[in-house]
Amino acid sequence: MATALKNIALVGASGNVGKVLLPALLASNFTVTVLRRASSSPSTIPDGVRTVDVDFTSVDSLTAALAGQDAVVSTVGSAALGAEQKKLVDAAVAAGVKRFLPSEFGCDLANPLAAKLPVFAPKVEVARYLEEKAQATPLTYTFVYTGPFFDWGLQYDFIFRSAGARPLLYDGGNAVFSTSTLDAVAQAVVAVLSKPEETKNRAVKFQSAAISQAQLLEIAKEVAPERDWQPEVVKLDDLTKAADERLAKGLFDGETFAPYILRAINDERYGPKFEELDNELLGIKQLTEEEIKAIVKEKLNN
Ligand SMILES: NC(=O)c1ccc[n+]([C@@H]2O[C@H](COP(=O)([O-])OP(=O)(O)OC[C@H]3O[C@@H](n4cnc5c(N)ncnc54)[C@H](OP(=O)(O)O)[C@@H]3O)[C@@H](O)[C@H]2O)c1
Repeated sequence: MATALKNIALVGASGNVGKVLLPALLASNFTVTVLRRASSSPSTIPDGVRTVDVDFTSVDSLTAALAGQDAVVSTVGSAALGAEQKKLVDAAVAAGVKRFLPSEFGCDLANPLAAKLPVFAPKVEVARYLEEKAQATPLTYTFVYTGPFFDWGLQYDFIFRSAGARPLLYDGGNAVFSTSTLDAVAQAVVAVLSKPEETKNRAVKFQSAAISQAQLLEIAKEVAPERDWQPEVVKLDDLTKAADERLAKGLFDGETFAPYILRAINDERYGPKFEELDNELLGIKQLTEEEIKAIVKEKLNN
């Protein structure tokens, strides 16, 4: 039987995922220690939460901060996904941490095509590194695959561009993708940590809904009929060709990488719709049609 995971080190608590996850962990009675960069803004962490400033370039600094921790949950952003996370893994091994959840929270990288997309290279590298460590040391891992975030993705026009009522439908927008609310992501992480044996050395996949851009457009028309919706079809091949050219020029930025993520979400060959779901294991309920509409309506009005 696996030992319970009680002491949780959260890395990246001030970010999009971390700031939703931190209160969920605290509410579930985990003992949380936040590891943050000395340069991080202190105001984002609630009073009373144990916080340790670390140097992400130093395995010693990270190892000292992880003493006594049962699990590391990394929600670091794109700048820290590669080298920094590998150092964090090394430190977790050195400190005797039992479980490591790397900063995934997105596409199913068990899909070979998705795993080859340049944007995911650091995540794939860390995943392979964790698999090696799990063979050679007592450290275990769980990869949390969520699909694009539903509420966040609507808010930032990422899964559906509502700005100007001019949505971009990638290759027509008919590919169905799994998508999860940030609350569901936090709930899933809590469940993974609460069920260490069932979630050991594997990926978990879940969804709040499976939906396409075309379906989102129909909902948008229904909840905001006063807008003059004029979708534009965009070819993913054109976007990724331009991204490949930028990559060849050494331009490693959001403009280069976003098209690859759009490909992973909107091209069914890349596995955007999860076929096997861990919703039941993790206690994640899917949204009803009415709940989906309510979220779309709220996001369109904000
Ligand atoms: N599925 C989706 O739709 C979706 C959307 C967004 C993100 N994601 C994924 O979710 C994960 C977290 O993303 P996020 O948007 O929450 O991240 P974020 O807000 O960009 O950053 C999270 C935290 O990472 C830490 N950080 C940033 N740069 C760092 C560096 N150079 N070294 C060490 N730490 C650094 C910071 O924490 P401190 O200041 O506390 O050090 C920051 O608050 C990523 O894997 C991302 O790909 C998925």
